[in-house]
Amino acid sequence: MVTRRRMIGAALATGGGVLLMRTTLRPAASVETAAAAAAHTHPGTTAPAAEADPGPDAGPTLAPKFTAAMPLPPVLAPVSTDGAADTYAVTMLKSYARILPGHRTDVLTYNGAFPGPVIRARSGRPVVVRQTNLLDDPVSVHLHGARVPVASDGGPMNLLDAGATRTYTYPNDQPHASLWFHDHAHHLESEHVYRGLAGTYLITDATEAALPLPAGRYDLPIALRDARFDPQGRLVYRMDDPLNRTTILANGRPWPKVEVAARKYRLRLLNSSNLRFFSLRLADGGPLTQIGSDGGLLERPHVTDTVDLSPGERADVVVDFSRYPVGSSIVLTNSMPPGPAEHVGQVLRFDITRAADDPSRVPAQLRTLPALGAATRERTVVMEYQEKPGAAPLGLIDGKVYDPARVDASVAFGTSEIWTVVNANKDVPHNFHLHLVQFRVLARNGAAPGPAESGLKDTVRLLPGESVRLQALFDSYRGRYPYHCHLLDHSAMGMMAQLEIT
Ligand code: C2O
Ligand code: CU
Ligand code: CU
Repeated sequence: MVTRRRMIGAALATGGGVLLMRTTLRPAASVETAAAAAAHTHPGTTAPAAEADPGPDAGPTLAPKFTAAMPLPPVLAPVSTDGAADTYAVTMLKSYARILPGHRTDVLTYNGAFPGPVIRARSGRPVVVRQTNLLDDPVSVHLHGARVPVASDGGPMNLLDAGATRTYTYPNDQPHASLWFHDHAHHLESEHVYRGLAGTYLITDATEAALPLPAGRYDLPIALRDARFDPQGRLVYRMDDPLNRTTILANGRPWPKVEVAARKYRLRLLNSSNLRFFSLRLADGGPLTQIGSDGGLLERPHVTDTVDLSPGERADVVVDFSRYPVGSSIVLTNSMPPGPAEHVGQVLRFDITRAADDPSRVPAQLRTLPALGAATRERTVVMEYQEKPGAAPLGLIDGKVYDPARVDASVAFGTSEIWTVVNANKDVPHNFHLHLVQFRVLARNGAAPGPAESGLKDTVRLLPGESVRLQALFDSYRGRYPYHCHLLDHSAMGMMAQLEIT
């Protein structure tokens, strides 16, 4: 593993070779435009002072570790609720967050929250979200992992212009799952999500509610990501900049501490990073009981010491802190490069501060997944990051840059398909995300997937040279939906394609 991880670190390092020095939020109409912008902001040209090299990430200097308490994102209250739906009103606006001690950091927010708020939904009960965009850019609000009609999917070209309001309707016609919503405006999504446009969306149902899992204050949504700061505490966004993002944030705080009771907790982990992969472990190698993944609970819990999360993936994990004495602490670590291990190798610290009763339990059977059924069609999808001397890097799927006017895969409504997704790069990691469906992983590199990938997934990691076989059933809505690499700097470079269900 160490060797493989080193290789990925090196890969991310090469992937970071081209820096696009965009510091303003303007659409890069094409990769060529972005390249031209980069060419015009080389050090020593007439780039404005604001675009000067901010130096290495100042986060590790500005933020002592394990000092700030990890906040929980606010849970949104509906503005109205009736027999038909719960309605929420959300405003996208510029705000500031107290991320680093003594500094105010400008961020982009849903309702002023960094990271974004939590919306709680129930299967079968629709949620309507009225989104108002008070930012300077167009946006697109995508509910990642949800089964929604095209009009509310928040695809890359389905924009909500600056100053405009629109309504997204989520039927929640799917089982419980820990989803998230984030910006998806093509070419802007990467910077928008980096600056804060991401929130949590939790669907529950009777199956989940009947289980004696840790709940309420013992059920913590935790969004993990990296970031880069300048010495003034401002977020620095450069495209394809993984090496410099060495500050780890959990719910928007650098390396926070989390006070817990000596009992079981459910941790809903989300990797909301643009590029960073996490390989999470308790510092003592203690057990992590994984109970869920992107599309809800696994059929059976899986006890492990490591949880891997690529950008966009979620893992639902139960940790029993009663194995630690009250007064002790345990660090959650990350072994995935790039970056100095003293910074990126640490994520947050649990401080066990009190005893507590614990009526919760992790049952041996959590749910039953529907049978897969027969697939009617097989396809291969090839993901590739391409760097050529003198040109901006390209994100390719099947050799092509994303074109919203092109349909890359025609799928017959009601059918099930098997896709083999291949990472053609030998030194760059990717992952693969399909909108609309929760799929099943049939194989990874020709072998059966591990238990962490035995449930419903909407995003799978593809380390250099890896391939994943997955099966999806397209039986909910017709229309055009994207599929893409969820390393958002890659999808912004074009590593995205489109299927059409007819
Ligand atoms: Cu979370 Cu198309 O993405
Ligand atoms: Cu999505
Ligand atoms: Cu990629």
